[in-house]
Amino acid sequence: MTRLEAQQEIVRLTALVQRHNELYHQQGRPEISDYEFDQLLAQLVQLEKQFPEFRLPDSPTQMVGEKPTKNFAIVYHRYPMLSLGNTYSEDELRQFVQRIRKLMPEAKVSFFCELKFDGVAISLLYEQGKLRQVVTRGDGEKGDDITQNARTITTIPQQIQGTSIPATFEVRGEAFMPRAHFKMLNKTRIANGEEPLANPRNTAAGTLKMLDARLVAQRLLDFYPYSLTAESLSLSTHAAGIRLLTQWGFNVSPTYRQCNSLEEIMDYINHWEVQKEVLPGDIDGIVIKVNDLSQQKQLGYTAKSPRWAIAYKYKPENVYTTLEQVSYQVGRTGTVTPVAHLKPILLAGTVVKRASLHNANEIKRLQLHLGDTVLVEKGGDIIPKITGVMATKRPPKSVPISFITHCPACSTPLTQLEGEVVHYCPNEKACPPQRIGRLKHFVHRKAMHIESIGEKTITLLFERGLVHTPADLYTLRYQDIYSLEGFQAVSARNLLQGIAQSKEIPFERVLFALGIRHVGATVAEKLAQHFQHIDALMQASMEDMLAIPEVGEKIAQSLYAYFQDEAQRRLIANLRAAGLQFRTASSSAETMPQPLAGKRLVISGTFLGITREALKIRIKQCGGQLLSAMSSKVDYLVAGEKVGPSKLTAAQELGANVLSETEIMDLMAKQAPA
Ligand code: IVH
Repeated sequence: MTRLEAQQEIVRLTALVQRHNELYHQQGRPEISDYEFDQLLAQLVQLEKQFPEFRLPDSPTQMVGEKPTKNFAIVYHRYPMLSLGNTYSEDELRQFVQRIRKLMPEAKVSFFCELKFDGVAISLLYEQGKLRQVVTRGDGEKGDDITQNARTITTIPQQIQGTSIPATFEVRGEAFMPRAHFKMLNKTRIANGEEPLANPRNTAAGTLKMLDARLVAQRLLDFYPYSLTAESLSLSTHAAGIRLLTQWGFNVSPTYRQCNSLEEIMDYINHWEVQKEVLPGDIDGIVIKVNDLSQQKQLGYTAKSPRWAIAYKYKPENVYTTLEQVSYQVGRTGTVTPVAHLKPILLAGTVVKRASLHNANEIKRLQLHLGDTVLVEKGGDIIPKITGVMATKRPPKSVPISFITHCPACSTPLTQLEGEVVHYCPNEKACPPQRIGRLKHFVHRKAMHIESIGEKTITLLFERGLVHTPADLYTLRYQDIYSLEGFQAVSARNLLQGIAQSKEIPFERVLFALGIRHVGATVAEKLAQHFQHIDALMQASMEDMLAIPEVGEKIAQSLYAYFQDEAQRRLIANLRAAGLQFRTASSSAETMPQPLAGKRLVISGTFLGITREALKIRIKQCGGQLLSAMSSKVDYLVAGEKVGPSKLTAAQELGANVLSETEIMDLMAKQAPA
């Protein structure tokens, strides 16, 4: 490599690493794996070592982590929070051990091995035994004050009990989301029609930066400590610090091991590489630390990391396969997403046929060609991704993949919004996948909750020309459905019943179901609360809308444009004529009897004459408040068929009334007390 080439390569790598740092830390949407990132960084370190004169002043090799965010108070760390040098090879680990032995030829060196938990590094400050402040690692020098959020982690002691607790001490460790909680969270999100989150690490990071600690509490994070610093304690080994933390009630992972040779370290590494699935949280490697604290001091630090520790990282599971095709999916809002079709291959226990390609930039970055041998990786992420290409194995004359210029469904030229990498099909009115996507959204559980219509049926209804817009659902007749393949008398009637029951769905969900760009379930709820009636919302000016805290410029513009559109106004008029709710229950409360006002209810079991969802809506309309679990606050347990036996027992013990389906229906039919 010539000097000029080296300089150019340093500039290129610096920008690339900076970009991926930004994507990972600031935007929380990494495009490459940790492994690839580490490879890029290692190349840059190597080149800067050979050509130090070309190192850029803001080189990422000289800094750690992320910039603190604007939403939290910034706190400077008492000691910088450094990162760890890392390696993926036994050879380099051997060099690490040899280097230390050479630097301290007289000493007997023992190593303390721990798991490298894959979460978010945080620092806890205790004063007089009480938890005072919790700060993220940030850029290593200063981080965000996330004390309120961290207090919701139940395994972080708020108060340390015991004798001889130092006046102040600092505990550092990893906050993480246990895999089981992550799976549950995604299951709920998918059921609610929300995008699943990519992996537990990003989710933990995002959770700690949430602005409402109550939401953080629901996410059930956990914390493993891995270091204790207290000036007034004279600890002689790292192991002694870990022992103290255990005694003080911290949730120390019992997986550490003290090792005296490279062989023992390798044994530990190999053991956990196989066993890692049994752990509650993800790990991405092992950390090897010199155990003796005076030896640590002697070895000292480089600008970025300690010389007395190293991380051995596991390579993510990956395989090579062939890229057979790239297809493009058009979403409800017109977003075009490329999907790689692969020759099916077994990876981390599942057969992988497809991988996400994110966007056009990703295809360009990988310089993909059809028929390429590609490296597919499945790390902590749920969707496998292509992380590399073996260009040397490329079949001769293979065609480079260039992102499509026209919509694959309706041939309209695609557009890109300024500053965004995503491509859109602007033909929202006529593009079939967008129209079907909107219908699917409309019937979704979180929207109109028409359970009797699945994705397949919607597509069938659309393709048969029976349903073009959501309003057409309400004019469907029995014979239309009966004639569809797969439908018989019972299923056809069920489908119509499901549609009819959706007329009870409250205004805020109808508003969400319309699928107005940028109007999610929460914004729809706020809009409904604020305007109470669709007419008020349709007549609102941009300023009126912006008066709601959750509504910004982008949402207001989108709403305004939506209600200006003649076709959308017609849709709303038709839905109104069909009898859907276009005003809040409270706005019509004067006329509605409230026989359950002030009563708290729990529903259990299944019901014969009404769906669970419709029953819930009726109860709320009658002024009742629904709770999910039995407690002394509950007035009524509404027991359907197959009512939970534990709920029945609890109702008896707590003195709550048990109502049958007929009883609750009778009660709701009564007039409100005067
Ligand atoms: S010791 C001076 N021990 O790995 C650095 N770090 O680059 C001291 N990590 O984000 C770190 N598990 O939070 C240490 N058992 C462990 C760890 C661990 C995970 C994380 C750490 C930081 C990164 C270090």
